[in-house]
Amino acid sequence: MNEMSPTTGLFWSKTAEKCPFPIPMGWFFVDYSENIKPGEHRNIFMLDQEWVFFRTAGGKPGMSDPFCPHLGAHIGHGGKVVGETIRCPFHHWGYNPEGWCTSIPYATEMPPITKRQPILRTLPLVEKWGLIFAWYHPHAEPPKWELPSIPELESDEYVKPMRRSWPIGTAIQELAENGVDYPHLKFLHGASEMPTGQYRVDGPDAYVDIGNGYTVGHQQGPGLAIFRFNAQGITSTMISYTVPITLEKSQMNMSFTHKRYPEGTKEAQVAKHLVDHMIGEADGEESAGFESVDLIVWNNKKYRQKPILCDGDGPILKYRQWFRQFYVDYDPAKI
Ligand code: FES
Ligand SMILES: [Fe+2]
Repeated sequence: MNEMSPTTGLFWSKTAEKCPFPIPMGWFFVDYSENIKPGEHRNIFMLDQEWVFFRTAGGKPGMSDPFCPHLGAHIGHGGKVVGETIRCPFHHWGYNPEGWCTSIPYATEMPPITKRQPILRTLPLVEKWGLIFAWYHPHAEPPKWELPSIPELESDEYVKPMRRSWPIGTAIQELAENGVDYPHLKFLHGASEMPTGQYRVDGPDAYVDIGNGYTVGHQQGPGLAIFRFNAQGITSTMISYTVPITLEKSQMNMSFTHKRYPEGTKEAQVAKHLVDHMIGEADGEESAGFESVDLIVWNNKKYRQKPILCDGDGPILKYRQWFRQFYVDYDPAKI
């Protein structure tokens, strides 16, 4: 999309879209483990469609398309978890979390296809760190990478993570672009100096180091990022797991943690300050965390497919090129 008039060189907003992006493939946060108990199910909306989210009696989480392959009933309205299946209310066909139809109470012989393959679209789920992630691919291809190890969520040397969540009115690509937008750290967030950074991509992983080790980030796929903030030998970690809700809405979710330090020590204070600083709740500071400032920009901005950039900008285009690998069907003229 050419947003610049070829005759005047001027940008104007009528031709600019807010979110021209499809839903990317990747691992996306669904919910915290404790929010779905064995035997429970509920309807959720994410990845631009409705899903039935459930946990079997044996504890396995499942996430399926809502509409039954039989005669199209909505499984989440009147359906029920029965043993290791979610059972459709209409004729009681039962599906396991992998989407196989394992029971039809009145069939003397199961339809042949049910013996060969799953028939209900379900998403592969991984439960890790007390979080449930779903693998989404628009053509239902299997996962292309595995979730990484995050020591801060796997060792009891760290404090129980503090969780936060924000609805945001734009697409996930626009949110994560912040991680390589170095100058906005000064002008929007009030960093005292103009930050510089190093950026490197490797398959579905991208790594950034801003301010010579002050902020070290690892983004894996579109739906997970780990940022470590270092000061005075102390590290505080932000784990971010944003999920697309619709094409123009995302839910940004985060966990913050750091090593355990005895109450009242300097180490404990520095660690806490780093967390407060990230979310903009640090007392008496000029700088503003993303909660107070990024949200205003994100909620109201439009996407510039061909931005005019200057030499002080971060590696915006390199980031976008990396991100494009997660789009399966998209219009290259738009993103
Ligand atoms: S429509 Fe679901 S069992 Fe018939
Ligand atoms: Fe920001």
